[in-house]
Amino acid sequence: MGRSAVLELSGVSYAYGSGPLATPALRNVSLTVNGGEIVSLVGPSGCGKTTLLKIVSGLLQPDRGEVRVNGLTSRGVHAGIGCIFQTPRLLPWRTVLSNVMLPLEVERVSRPQARMTAERALALVGLKGTGQRYPAELSGGMRRRVAIARALTSDPAVLLMDEPFASLDAISREKLNLEMLRLREATGKTVLFVTHSIRESVLMSDRVLVLSHRPAAVRREVRVDLGPQRDLRVQDSTEFTRLTAALREELDYGEDEERRRLDGEPEEDGA
Ligand SMILES: Nc1ncnc2c1ncn2[C@@H]1O[C@H](COP(=O)(O)OP(=O)(O)OP(=O)(O)O)[C@@H](O)[C@H]1O
Ligand SMILES: [Mg+2]
Repeated sequence: MGRSAVLELSGVSYAYGSGPLATPALRNVSLTVNGGEIVSLVGPSGCGKTTLLKIVSGLLQPDRGEVRVNGLTSRGVHAGIGCIFQTPRLLPWRTVLSNVMLPLEVERVSRPQARMTAERALALVGLKGTGQRYPAELSGGMRRRVAIARALTSDPAVLLMDEPFASLDAISREKLNLEMLRLREATGKTVLFVTHSIRESVLMSDRVLVLSHRPAAVRREVRVDLGPQRDLRVQDSTEFTRLTAALREELDYGEDEERRRLDGEPEEDGA
């Protein structure tokens, strides 16, 4: 597992639209994700998390600042980046295997080669032997795994995940969180993960970055020293509790600040 920076954002700002009606979404965001690291972004709803991922993936261009992938300035959609969204977006009329093969078909990879790569990706996410099923025959958790397998086929250096497990039940979600750690061990992938769940961010990350209200800036970085291999019991540890409490406090503090700003109240409690 490399320790050098795979993903670097420096001074990235972005606004939707321009002029007086512009919506600033990111303000001077700088962050680094090292090779093989899992970093989570947490922040208030609407603060700019998805915008940040869109900038990293090249779907949006920053107004200011720079995105570097493996040391190279990235412009436009980057082949070294795989995206996984909140809904798995599988084609219902295609089998699991042919859903996973889709990006390879687009890249015109030969069929036998595409098939082999897709089968390997399915095995990596624990779905060996399900290739001939249809998405409707899978559980929600399995569909998420298919989406991850599909993103793995192009062997991206970085996986961007935007609340991919948000709509799952707690048990499937925890399983997939641990699954991501295992996948990282197996593939050395670098992961930037957006979530609303503080627990999820601590359970599966090496570091958690707390973002401010819109326009998002990095408020705080919290290192998660729970080791590279974890099981569900890690959630009962005092360190886990300490980390989730610290993150919750940081987010609540942000909420209070935002309320004061919107109410036009002074920073100090004037009552
Ligand atoms: N295409 C767009 N045009 C104009 N404004 C937009 C556009 N997309 C997002 N925004 C605004 O930019 C801000 C950040 O949006 P973004 O989707 O990045 O937030 P988010 O942190 O991902 O929110 P959530 O937690 O709800 O997913 C929001 O205020 C949103 O209304
Ligand atoms: Mg979002």
